[in-house]
Amino acid sequence: MSRYRLRIDADLDQCLAFSNWIQAHQFLSQRKERVLEIGSGMGEFLVHEAMQHPSLLFLGIELEWKRVLKATEKIWKQQNLENIRFLHAKADESLAQSLSDFDFQMIHINHPDPWSKRRHFKRRLIRPSMLTVFATLLTLQGTLWISTDHPEYAKSIHNDILSSENYQIIENQLLDEDALMQLGRKQTIFAEKLEAKGRPSRLLVARCIQKPTP
Ligand SMILES: C[S@@+](CC[C@H](N)C(=O)[O-])C[C@H]1O[C@@H](n2cnc3c(N)ncnc32)[C@H](O)[C@@H]1O
Repeated sequence: MSRYRLRIDADLDQCLAFSNWIQAHQFLSQRKERVLEIGSGMGEFLVHEAMQHPSLLFLGIELEWKRVLKATEKIWKQQNLENIRFLHAKADESLAQSLSDFDFQMIHINHPDPWSKRRHFKRRLIRPSMLTVFATLLTLQGTLWISTDHPEYAKSIHNDILSSENYQIIENQLLDEDALMQLGRKQTIFAEKLEAKGRPSRLLVARCIQKPTP
């Protein structure tokens, strides 16, 4: 039996990770205050947030199944936290449609793959079309939180957000120890490794000030 107690075919309340959107929809229907993380990796960040804010509902979307399992193990270790689940899926432009019945107070993206070569820029998760998707999913005045250690990607995201009529940038700061403490944020193992290599993270926060026209 899996030590993750992962029950894909079990009742929803016994499922710690989802493999399809229907399960995610059932979970998201439980409360109106919701937070989304895209590329949730091994779940350290979102599990910490879910423990800090028990009244909110947290959904992490992650492309790699093994990472979903690792994240799921963290929910289980915290006495089966009820307000967080992980979905194995790829976030792309269809996300607005897949989650069209729901809105989110916050969307987090931590250390999106930078795809540093110019010819790979189109693979980046944060691109103008996806910023529109995020604005569609956010509540008006909801916030998009992005952290990255990659200076060029950070600049490009900043510029894309500035060019969008949907957002206003409210924060662009280094995520040093003081900032982490002030924000009560958990640094992921991934970010800690980068920091040890002298690659600190930067945090960008943007508020949704105008919803995209459907
Ligand atoms: C560099 S890792 C960062 C993981 C984690 N956020 C952290 O900070 O430790 C990027 C993660 O995003 C996931 N990912 C990349 N593209 C994705 C997509 N389109 N939808 C969902 N997850 C994605 C990858 O599988 C990987 O786990």
